[in-house]
Amino acid sequence: MRIYTVKDYDAMSAKAAEIIAAQMISKPNSVLGLATGSTPIGTYQNLIKKYNDGIIDFSEIRTANLDEYKGLTPDHDQSYAYFMRTNLFDHVNIDMANTNIPNGLVEDAEEECKRYDAVIDALGGVDLQLLGIGNNGHIGFNEPAEAFANGTHSIKLTDNTIEANARFFASKDDVPKYAYTMGIRNIMQAKAILLVASGEAKADAMYKTICGPITPEVPASILQLHSNVFIVADEAAMSKVNK
Ligand code: GLP
Repeated sequence: MRIYTVKDYDAMSAKAAEIIAAQMISKPNSVLGLATGSTPIGTYQNLIKKYNDGIIDFSEIRTANLDEYKGLTPDHDQSYAYFMRTNLFDHVNIDMANTNIPNGLVEDAEEECKRYDAVIDALGGVDLQLLGIGNNGHIGFNEPAEAFANGTHSIKLTDNTIEANARFFASKDDVPKYAYTMGIRNIMQAKAILLVASGEAKADAMYKTICGPITPEVPASILQLHSNVFIVADEAAMSKVNK
């Protein structure tokens, strides 16, 4: 693991965007695995700035997002499809036909998970996977479990995650209870992984991810076994690792 501990959220966002930009410059048709949540928003803002400054080009970039809530239409303002358009895609020269995200409206989980795994395979796999982390150590929507999940699957969200994400919805009851997510196999097959984390609320999860045993109870702990992981986290998120 290459761990960069930086001062604050802004420094985390700048550093993460540099790593993604380097990937895009070295391979203009890179497959980027993208993430949602509040943490990567600043990273996307930095990428938009680099695009506007002519440093990076999205015209050949292909993307596969980690996850999507079940039951939300792509134009629902809390769907991850909407998040990606408003926080990145609408502001850069990406071809929307090259962007991929699980379809939360497909009822038949088996069908949608098979389709999404095939999409990732057809892309030739992910070159660089961006990840946030949940307070409980989840990545994508791979919640703490008894075993590491394989490919794309449908998952029932934990109370912890529903509560953490309720701030984005009118009420906790409005948070979808299920989601589609890439599995741990999809994530671990990425050629490189970039995990971003900010704030005290992530300190416990970061400690367990980096220093704890590798266990499906802390899904991000599996990253210890990947040979090409960057962690970019601010001092607050790293406060338990660096104490
Ligand atoms: C959601 C997403 C995750 C994300 C996590 C943390 O549950 N599915 O991909 O990492 O939230 O979000 P935040 O960055 O807002 O703390």
